[in-house]
Amino acid sequence: MVGLGPRPPPLRQGSKTDLPQNLIAQIRYLEELFTVDTQKLKAISDHFVSELDKGLSVEGGSIPMNPTWVMAFPDGHETGTYLALDMGGTNLRVCEITLTEQKSEFDIIQSKYRMPEELKTTNNNEELWDYIADCLYQFVETHHGDCTKVDVLPLGFTFSYPATQNYIDEGILQRWTKGFDINGVEGQNVVPMLDAALAKRGVPIRVTALINDTTGTMIASAYTDTKMKIGCIFGTGCNAAYMEEVGQIPKLAHLNLPADTPMAINCEWGAFDNEHKVLPRTSYDVAIDRDSPRPGQQAFEKMIAGLYLGEIFRLVLVDLHDNEEINIFKGQDIAILRKPYSLDSSFLSGVEEDPFENLQETYDTFAQKLNIVCKLPELELIRRLAELIGTRAARLSACGVAAIAKKKNYKSCHVGADGSVFNKYPHFKARGAQALKEILDWPEKSNPQEEDPIEVLAAEDGSGVGAALIAALTLKRVKAGNLAGILHPEHFK
Ligand code: BGC
Repeated sequence: MVGLGPRPPPLRQGSKTDLPQNLIAQIRYLEELFTVDTQKLKAISDHFVSELDKGLSVEGGSIPMNPTWVMAFPDGHETGTYLALDMGGTNLRVCEITLTEQKSEFDIIQSKYRMPEELKTTNNNEELWDYIADCLYQFVETHHGDCTKVDVLPLGFTFSYPATQNYIDEGILQRWTKGFDINGVEGQNVVPMLDAALAKRGVPIRVTALINDTTGTMIASAYTDTKMKIGCIFGTGCNAAYMEEVGQIPKLAHLNLPADTPMAINCEWGAFDNEHKVLPRTSYDVAIDRDSPRPGQQAFEKMIAGLYLGEIFRLVLVDLHDNEEINIFKGQDIAILRKPYSLDSSFLSGVEEDPFENLQETYDTFAQKLNIVCKLPELELIRRLAELIGTRAARLSACGVAAIAKKKNYKSCHVGADGSVFNKYPHFKARGAQALKEILDWPEKSNPQEEDPIEVLAAEDGSGVGAALIAALTLKRVKAGNLAGILHPEHFK
């Protein structure tokens, strides 16, 4: 512990029965508020199936269900060297991936650049593209030498926001998500914007494919595991992609493609239930939406994704302090806690991971980071609240996975998942798996080691390897004469 003097003696070991009555009642109330029972999970996932269908229809619905022009799974024999750029929520990552002659293997070199916070909400979108062009310039200079002497390199751009793609090398931003709010980009094709910045900076790179992180995750995972059918991201944002058949996509009927042609769909399921029909929203969820840059959007994502988990938790605690009957942290200055988005999901993870019966680590974190000294009953409430929020997120996520599985009638498959919440949030996988079991009525396993019929597994690197594979697969189909959904086939030579 820094700056707080010697560690205080361990707090009294407690059980819930030691909690003051008002806190017990409050915990019960929070449990009711945040618990999603089996019946509700089933109702949500049933409604989800119909919304997935709606998204594919000509009229459309809340869930965009964007066709991506990724039209095959890899077979493991793809080869070649590709550049990939990942513009996720937090970092920019540039990679060069070599898919080797050895089946399902690859080499990768990569550099990470922090995405400056102020760029996420800049008024001038050129600042964003120029920053990205600078990062790519540095990467090429480091790994290929003098930019003026390098031949134009093709780039797979993982742009993880909802985008309409009439072509694989086009991406018209539908709306910013994940707290981004940059002027002049929504409704525009981002590919020429990045290309122009690259040309201006003299970077010998051209964007040849625009990819969503979920599609990349699905394709990268399928490279090494043929049971992979769905790709998911549970990170700053949340979303999934799966492979559909063109015949099942009424909004593509006008293209007259053969009905059995595969087409990866970027669901953009974060927008599920924007019309608030089934999700059990609390007043805290309503407040998060109201104060976000895009109210009314991403209803599902705002209950699940890493960007929001800490904020939900923070809002509840502030409310319980301000509520005179409960008044947790009585008499203390909670100014730091009042700052929006001051707690991220790793704060919540920390609370859930506190190994001590007396919640000593949570006590220390609150004291150090928030300047709040917690009493044991308050710590107990904090811990339970973190569990409730984390569990709700995992269980709601499972509704989406179950919906795709039901829609496609997948009785058994693998789902590749990536993102900070999936990889780092304690118990997220187990809680999600439990919810899937409840929704899909799986029987008890005779052997606990056995796989579940639908297993959500840690994915291969989607924005790097996935982007490379998508470039390779597109090249392959151009060579085979399938030019559907490619604006510039001449770039795939
Ligand atoms: C975006 C998706 C993305 C997901 C995970 C969402 O906010 O709209 O495109 O796949 O975050 O990164």
